[in-house]
Amino acid sequence: MKKKLVSLLTVSVMTLSMLAGCTSGSAPAESTPDNTEKTEQTDANAGAEQTAEAVVESVGNADLADKKVGVCIYQFSDNFMTLFRNELETYLVSQGFSKDNIKIVDGANDQATQTNQISSFITEGVDVLIINPVNSSSAATITDMVVDANIPLVYINREPDADEEARWADNNWNVTYVGCDARQSGTMQGEIIVDLGLETVDLNGDGKVQYIMIEGDPENVDAQYRTEFSVKALTDAGWEVDCLDDQVGNWDQATAQQLVANALSAHPETEVVFCNNDAMALGALQSIDAAGRKVGEDIFLVGVDALTEALEDVIAGTMTGTVFNDHISQSHSAADAAIAYITGATNEHYIGCDYVKVTSDNAQSTLDSLK
Ligand code: BGC
Repeated sequence: MKKKLVSLLTVSVMTLSMLAGCTSGSAPAESTPDNTEKTEQTDANAGAEQTAEAVVESVGNADLADKKVGVCIYQFSDNFMTLFRNELETYLVSQGFSKDNIKIVDGANDQATQTNQISSFITEGVDVLIINPVNSSSAATITDMVVDANIPLVYINREPDADEEARWADNNWNVTYVGCDARQSGTMQGEIIVDLGLETVDLNGDGKVQYIMIEGDPENVDAQYRTEFSVKALTDAGWEVDCLDDQVGNWDQATAQQLVANALSAHPETEVVFCNNDAMALGALQSIDAAGRKVGEDIFLVGVDALTEALEDVIAGTMTGTVFNDHISQSHSAADAAIAYITGATNEHYIGCDYVKVTSDNAQSTLDSLK
């Protein structure tokens, strides 16, 4: 009963935060094409046969022990997706699935491999698929395969584009996406820097902020939006910026370490290092240390995810800040959506969540809450 109530509250809060995300928007029109779509989808879904509350009710009554779940992860070595998939499995089991009936496979960052894995799951006759696509641009092909097999589908982490999401609503398919709006995480990264004040950040006093950007996979909307909106928060605050280098680190610590080592030696005047995720920020920190620089004194560094190691760095002052990418709420929402489909209920076609800004003020409490 208590669990049901918590889930119910989670669904309501998520719905509210999604609506709030839809209405806020100082972003330029060309940057927010899906915001309008999402509002429309939410409104359309408001009239759907079963409300989110009804969905949660039916979840509580389901017998899930013999249901099969196929989970495709783009790459097991990704730190964030490891937290996500472990929490997903634990939560599915807590909801009544048998561990033996939850199969989680590694796409090894190769779409062909993942597409074969999806075909195998279809042949096996799983009851639901949860997919973190290798390439978001392959979503239409994946959706067609899965819908043709009459299997409900929950996308996670890598958001398909607006046209693809519109097809799910137009055709009334049992397909949804669970994730957070990456614009918010980028904005929060920028705000962490702005909150320090220009006099603190502008170390060389030239009236501009010299920065380097380390991007995730450029095909991924999280990478695109974090890159754009982190800098936008600075310019929105009236700051002038100077991009010294912008490189693709593919979400990977070792790659970022090398890129930042090169960038710092070519541009010792760097004042801020933006990384699209914490794994890359940890790599950046290794190179900042190697260059004899000190975060908080002669350089500033922000990431996204709130990995344990990054939180420890924020507490120690060796990272300026990060943004909590809530793998707990996202994995639970993905599981709840899967359960709703299995039990014959519907879901909205976009299920959102909120990021949380993390600085030295709340890094310890964030770490404690994740233990
Ligand atoms: C996370 C990254 C992760 C990526 C994988 C992002 O939301 O912040 O850490 O590598 O998802 O797609």
